[in-house]
Amino acid sequence: MKLPNSYYNTTSFFGSLIAGFTFLLIVFLFVITTFFTQSGNYLGLITFILLPGIFIIGLLMIPLGMILKNKREKKTGIIENRWKVIDLNKTSTRNAMIVFVTGSFIILFASSIGSYKAFHYTESVKFCGQLCHKVMNPEYTAYLQSPHARVKCVECHVGEGADWYVKSKLSGLYQVYSVLFDKYSKPIPTPISNLRPARETCEKCHWPDKFYPNKLVTIRSYIADTVNSECDITLKMKISSGISALGHAEGIHWHINPDVKIEYISRSNHKDTIPWVKYTNLETGKVTVFQDVNEPLASDKILQLQISEMDCMDCHNRPSHSFKSPSDYVDDGINKGIIPKDLQFIKQISMQVLTVRTSTTDSSLNYIKDKITSFYKDEHPDIYKAQKKSIEKAIAGIQNEFSKNSFPEMNVYNTSYANHIGHQQTKGCFRCHSGNMAAEDGTIIRNDCNLCHSIVAEKIENKLNHDVPVDSSLEFVHPVDIDKAWKEMSCSECHSELF
Ligand code: HEC
Ligand code: HEC
Ligand code: HEC
Ligand code: HEC
Ligand code: HEC
Ligand code: HEC
Repeated sequence: MKLPNSYYNTTSFFGSLIAGFTFLLIVFLFVITTFFTQSGNYLGLITFILLPGIFIIGLLMIPLGMILKNKREKKTGIIENRWKVIDLNKTSTRNAMIVFVTGSFIILFASSIGSYKAFHYTESVKFCGQLCHKVMNPEYTAYLQSPHARVKCVECHVGEGADWYVKSKLSGLYQVYSVLFDKYSKPIPTPISNLRPARETCEKCHWPDKFYPNKLVTIRSYIADTVNSECDITLKMKISSGISALGHAEGIHWHINPDVKIEYISRSNHKDTIPWVKYTNLETGKVTVFQDVNEPLASDKILQLQISEMDCMDCHNRPSHSFKSPSDYVDDGINKGIIPKDLQFIKQISMQVLTVRTSTTDSSLNYIKDKITSFYKDEHPDIYKAQKKSIEKAIAGIQNEFSKNSFPEMNVYNTSYANHIGHQQTKGCFRCHSGNMAAEDGTIIRNDCNLCHSIVAEKIENKLNHDVPVDSSLEFVHPVDIDKAWKEMSCSECHSELF
């Protein structure tokens, strides 16, 4: 094979070597992705972005070397030798050659294995959750407590298909850039446009034909009074129809039934206020539009604003990164036994302490310790003396729960990301089911307390009420006396303030 004289120079030669080698590596990795892995992952970052980059650099080195050589020859007038003369009769040259050839083989071999290992590493949970420790720490910590703790980050955040692939790689590169140059915002804003899981993502594991029947949920919480009064409520969540042959025909998962299409407009990106909802019955073609009766959207706005179709993420928006409120995580601590229930005032004082935010985790932990200690020391010296051990245990328990749910460095608290499941601390389901969303014919999006769950049992201050037939519900009794306020106001109007 004859090539122009100018090709024979060191730069062009190494350029060809690099290009040739990366080309082989790309082919090798491409074969691996095609035959051995089914879902999207970070191998693509190497195969389709990094290696082609190096490949192109190699290719560019060839003409560069040629141009430089031509220039040199023109300037000096000396035609350089085509090849460097390597005299293998010299022992030193021979040895150098042996070292070079063996070394190259070892490096080639190691780097092909290395690339394969690197791919496995980059798709691991460790890589996503710990490499950028400070940035992803809140999501990683919450993830470890979630039902998805054994589902890889990439299973939700990187969808299937080529377009997702490119999207996730590009945003991945941007993320690396923003971490290196400290350009990211705290907390990380949602909705995350590039890596937001789509309905297909969840359906890889929770496919819609799989039927979720009713589910019994018992919530045990404690009132901020002297004795941390316990109140339990057991709800039968009507996730789908109670009669399995009906599938998603009714109940909470009715919204994702194949015959139903629900579209909505939200006033903000966060989807926390929804003034316009359109329900299309795909079987009959009937369309019903519900509008907020108190604050309807102007008709020109309806044309301007983006219409979204309801999917899993409109309710399950925190399936693996749920940051709990102080009230809920202190309840958790008491339920687990790491915060002693019989320590008087502990719920009350922790609620006061935990509403104060400081700038670092360490200063928050110290604040919790100092305030709770001085509360008992100054205001309840008798308890302080008698139950010193209990107080220390409670402090450790509260600190532990705090650090799983609050991240001052990233400015992440329960309030940073509203959880849309439920309606107590955030509007959640009541964004649409408030009773204020009405159609032109007067029908409303229903909000009676038995639509989504029935109350099977309620226990307040040791009085248990569970005298209810299977198919009906108890009347809700609010654990503290607020008269009829819970009927007239949204729960979140008080409870979002109550931490
Ligand atoms: C079960 C699916 C699922 C898994 C597994 C998962 N995530 Fe998420 N993640 C989500 C959803 C849903 C959101 C919210 C998206 C939105 O609102 O746009 C989210 C949001 C995020 C955000 C944006 C900030 C925030 O708190 O909303 C980050 C960062 C994140 N996830 C990182 C991770 C990391 C790191 C892992 C693995 C340790 C992981 N995720 C695993 C579903 C998942
Ligand atoms: C790779 C598989 C996988 C994917 C993808 C996945 N999940 Fe899960 N999910 C699981 C597993 C495993 C569990 C735990 C099952 C159990 O505890 O019975 C679970 C549990 C759940 C639960 C029940 C939680 C509870 O408290 O019992 C919900 C709700 C849920 N997932 C929603 C989602 C949503 C929404 C998405 C999409 C963003 C999603 N999942 C994506 C595997 C997955
Ligand atoms: C984007 C608006 C929207 C949101 C958010 C929403 N829903 Fe609905 N929901 C509707 C509409 C519209 C209907 C149909 C009107 C009706 O049945 O009253 C409906 C109907 C229902 C029904 C009755 C289904 C049947 O059997 O006919 C249940 C149960 C329900 N929703 C539960 C929930 C729960 C639980 C949440 C929160 C986790 C929620 N919804 C959030 C719009 C919404
Ligand atoms: C209207 C809101 C809404 C939508 C939309 C929705 N869910 Fe749910 N889902 C709920 C509620 C509420 C529960 C009961 C949660 C509880 O109380 O623990 C639930 C329960 C579940 C469970 C747990 C069942 C169990 O037995 O523990 C899974 C899994 C689940 N949903 C997956 C999905 C998937 C996947 C989608 C999208 C295809 C989806 N959901 C869409 C509101 C919704
Ligand atoms: C649109 C559906 C829907 C309607 C209507 C509804 N709820 Fe709920 N409710 C939920 C969901 C979803 C949860 C969350 C269950 C969970 O945490 O697993 C919930 C949770 C609760 C809880 C437990 C709160 C906690 O965390 O301690 C109580 C109490 C409750 N509801 C009472 C009521 C009362 C009273 C009404 C009538 C004013 C009502 N609900 C109407 C869907 C609904
Ligand atoms: C007028 C304000 C107000 C309204 C409205 C309200 N609550 Fe409460 N709620 C309170 C107060 C105050 C407490 C006592 C908090 C404490 O001492 O820990 C409380 C405590 C509770 C508790 C027990 C402790 C806990 O934090 O879980 C539950 C359960 C509860 N409320 C559910 C509801 C539900 C469900 C609704 C809506 C149907 C509602 N509340 C509406 C003020 C209100």
